[in-house]
Amino acid sequence: MKVFVSRNIPTAAIDVLKEYGLDAHINVDNKHLTQDQLIQECQDVDLLLNVGHADLDKHFLESCKHLKGIALASVGYDHVDLQTATALRIPVSNTPGVLSGATADVAFLLMLAVSRKAFSRAHEVREGKWKDFEFMQDLGIELNGKTLGIYGLGRIGLELAKKAKAAYNMNIIYYNRSRNLEAEKLVDARYVNFDDLLSQSDVISLHTNLSAETQYRFNKDAFRRMKKSAILINTARGKVVHEKDLIEALQLGEIWGAGLDVSNPEPMSPSNPLLDMPNVCVLPHIGSATIETRTQMAVMAANNLIAAKNSNPMMQIVNK
Ligand code: DGY
Repeated sequence: MKVFVSRNIPTAAIDVLKEYGLDAHINVDNKHLTQDQLIQECQDVDLLLNVGHADLDKHFLESCKHLKGIALASVGYDHVDLQTATALRIPVSNTPGVLSGATADVAFLLMLAVSRKAFSRAHEVREGKWKDFEFMQDLGIELNGKTLGIYGLGRIGLELAKKAKAAYNMNIIYYNRSRNLEAEKLVDARYVNFDDLLSQSDVISLHTNLSAETQYRFNKDAFRRMKKSAILINTARGKVVHEKDLIEALQLGEIWGAGLDVSNPEPMSPSNPLLDMPNVCVLPHIGSATIETRTQMAVMAANNLIAAKNSNPMMQIVNK
């Protein structure tokens, strides 16, 4: 059987594919493929290892209905039309768990960077424009003992809560569809309603998947109910935040700052006002980008394809 690997992945994962008898066709130039090109590449293969967030929509799936399995090298699967995949009997898998620590690290990094204004004048240092030490300049906020509100307390949220508790003894509150008893036990997290999450948090970190319920949940109305000293961190999906409303809230001083590893769209336009705001830190979607984590993600995806090749259920299937 043949598999198309849509972007470069670590050799360890290619080795798994080969060891179990899969003929791997890799996008060796690591070029961005349009949907038409991806469809084209998939015509001659049985399986797809999909890297990135290209739309695997109804049109794509119907054009590739011969596929015996799609393994995503991501935990998020909002870019896949699962209903159509299921109707076409194409199993789809993701990579839960292995990226939780790395992604929580980036949320932590952003939380600290924004609270301490770490990068707000980095360009001045680079450009030789930083003149002198100023006693009353660059004053940040300390995280010690502050309240961290987690929107979507699953695996990644829990990792962040553990780090925040251990490093700064932060008080953890969270909002979820259902209670996370493990988190309540491990980090003394307190379940609150959405209103309380907004009004009580010093930092709100988003760790939800993107769905009809979560899309644009952080909008004008939400920002108005947050503390003026609050920081918003998003390492989940850009569309959970209404970006225009966020820009306005920051311009009006309705919240203190924001740390964003994701945006809508990606990449963020270079003319986006968020990029010029000293109280905003923007990263290029690097949540899971460590050698260790990306290797584990790719190997997990490869193993799911081996299962599909052998007509076994994929271990991390998302459309049962
Ligand atoms: C994920 O795993 O969903 C991250 O966004 C990286 O793709």
